[in-house]
Amino acid sequence: MIVVDTIGELHAFLAEARAEGKSVGLVPTMGALHEGHASLVKRSVEDNGVTVVSVFVNPTQFNDKGDLERYPRTLDADCRLLEALGASCVFAPSVEEVYPEPDTRVFDFAPLDKVMEGIYRPGHFNGVAQIVSKLFTYVEPHRAYFGEKDFQQLAIIREMVRQLGLSLEIVGCPIVREDDGLALSSRNALLTPEQRHTALAISRTLFASVEYAKDHSLAETKQMVEQAIADTEGLELEYYEIVDGHTLQPVSSWDDTDYIVGCITVYCGKVRLIDNIKYK
Ligand code: PAF
Repeated sequence: MIVVDTIGELHAFLAEARAEGKSVGLVPTMGALHEGHASLVKRSVEDNGVTVVSVFVNPTQFNDKGDLERYPRTLDADCRLLEALGASCVFAPSVEEVYPEPDTRVFDFAPLDKVMEGIYRPGHFNGVAQIVSKLFTYVEPHRAYFGEKDFQQLAIIREMVRQLGLSLEIVGCPIVREDDGLALSSRNALLTPEQRHTALAISRTLFASVEYAKDHSLAETKQMVEQAIADTEGLELEYYEIVDGHTLQPVSSWDDTDYIVGCITVYCGKVRLIDNIKYK
């Protein structure tokens, strides 16, 4: 595995791989890697001749400066894990390498980016589209891998690929959870042991809501989740939306569509956690 920090070195590595007829998988990350990322890398290593993992904490997708500063950075440990997983190349550029001048591109993914994270993190998906489109240009992967935990991000990246007419395949991979249900996230590293215990109420409530939904209306189920989080000391609900999994627009009845997902964002102290659950 090689570790490079310039686009030139990345291109040199990819030119060799392509000359050998190898397919290229890309796993974009912001580092602080965990088993969730590992599942994406394993999948890419299985599917492709070479796997490039980008490790870059992208400033343009953070609308909160404190959040950007607090974001964990663990490149040495990340590289050790990636080597063990069989990644071929780690691309860990500086901010100046990626943004030699400010990126002024404005994307519009309406209606997908006008709900949920799009409301609470204005500009976030524009920043994600800026970095992911740059990574797609640098790497020109055959396939790129993203986790379903960031459900809205995955939908928006698929839409970006459609809008830009790119030919790569976007592979969505299932949420990876701890044995006790907590969805893996780089932000979990910021939780105290007590907060981590409190945060378990998020997945526990989502799982319970799937059972509850079997004999309750959608509005009652939404209310049940909101109440359970409100009743948990140490958690503050930002939103819980039950949406059409294709359009991300809120639905009002279980019969509205064939694909229904509940998406939640909760603050545990200062740590912002997201999760989601499929109802059908
Ligand atoms: O999901 C993430 O970690 C980031 O949003 C991504 C896709 C790596 C872009 O910075």
